[in-house]
Amino acid sequence: MIGLGVAWRARLRGLTVTVVDPEPGSGASWTAAGMLAPLSELHYGEKPLLALNMASARRYPAFVEELERSSGTEVGYLRCGTLVAAWDGADMAGLRDIHGFARSLGLETELLTRRQLRARVPASASGLAGALSAPDDHQVDNRLLHSALLRACVAEGVTLLPTAARRWLLRGDRVVGLALADGTDLTAPVVVLACGAWSGRIDGLPPGAVPAVRPVKGQTLRLRTVGSPLLTCVLRGSVRGCPVYLVPRADGRIVVGASSEEAGFDVRPRAGAVYELLRDAQALVPGLGEAELEEVSTSLRPASPDNAPLIGPSRIPGLLLAVGHYRNGVLLTPVTADAIAGLLADGALPDEVAAFTPARFDRTEDQAAGDQAVEGRTVEEKAAADRTTREDVG
Ligand code: GLY
Repeated sequence: MIGLGVAWRARLRGLTVTVVDPEPGSGASWTAAGMLAPLSELHYGEKPLLALNMASARRYPAFVEELERSSGTEVGYLRCGTLVAAWDGADMAGLRDIHGFARSLGLETELLTRRQLRARVPASASGLAGALSAPDDHQVDNRLLHSALLRACVAEGVTLLPTAARRWLLRGDRVVGLALADGTDLTAPVVVLACGAWSGRIDGLPPGAVPAVRPVKGQTLRLRTVGSPLLTCVLRGSVRGCPVYLVPRADGRIVVGASSEEAGFDVRPRAGAVYELLRDAQALVPGLGEAELEEVSTSLRPASPDNAPLIGPSRIPGLLLAVGHYRNGVLLTPVTADAIAGLLADGALPDEVAAFTPARFDRTEDQAAGDQAVEGRTVEEKAAADRTTREDVG
């Protein structure tokens, strides 16, 4: 999703663009639920991410309008809002905190009592303690969005190469292209890396230049309901501490997500995760038990060390990063695409992504390397260094 967004926007800025992807849309872009949830998807410790999430959410209406025009297809952007249900009184106290936090930032939220929740969502379980309404957290059909981006890229003249990137081509300390699985080399003045969880798996970069992105497995389910819709807004909550969300599409399908597992590059569906998702989704909306289970989908979220994306120049000339979008890839596609296209076309990143360049990890990594070097020294070396420091100070 991120790569195609960048390709489309870069092409619109007049650049010549080639996308290398053996199977476009087969990864997290396919498994995602398409929540556009700057607030309700925010986790503790991620406050800096909120501004970026909000900036991208604000871009969505215009981004969708332009994309639907360019691709000739709809993307299922629904301004449906989100309700975060409280399982019990402790959850309700947590939601009150979030409500206060949101209001302190001028964001609209509303606390709902048990009755108000039932009035808004008659299909919700009767025992829920209440809810927080996040009226500006919406959804898009990620699969439609992805296929619209593909069409728009083709319509605008982006070249698509359905093959894998195997190895970086370097000249001196500069990235100059990629060796491809089909045996050809592709050279370019600039390469944008946007391979999601697999971004560190192309051989040939010096170790410090490999982006720090790890896979976090996620499973989603697609359910189909018939008759009048069970839900008209996104409903999420924690059932006995286990997070679950239900995203109702306009066609009666409901996407249920998501597991979160540190399991390396294993993308096999896990029966226990399916069981837990169905159990918890049904605890929020009992009527889901009658739905048809259409699909189990598994992929890998690309997680960075601080859960925020890396957008901008890498440590190596010729290589830009658009990676590490973790749980917010669909939401952050417009802001990332415009930022990278702007960097390519104008040579500058917009202020809204300034806090999310890969450089934010350089100091800490260098410090860590320094600390390690200190740890690795002998007692005598440390004593000598201490003496030098004392003499310097003295
Ligand atoms: N954004 C939803 C998830 O990562 O599960």
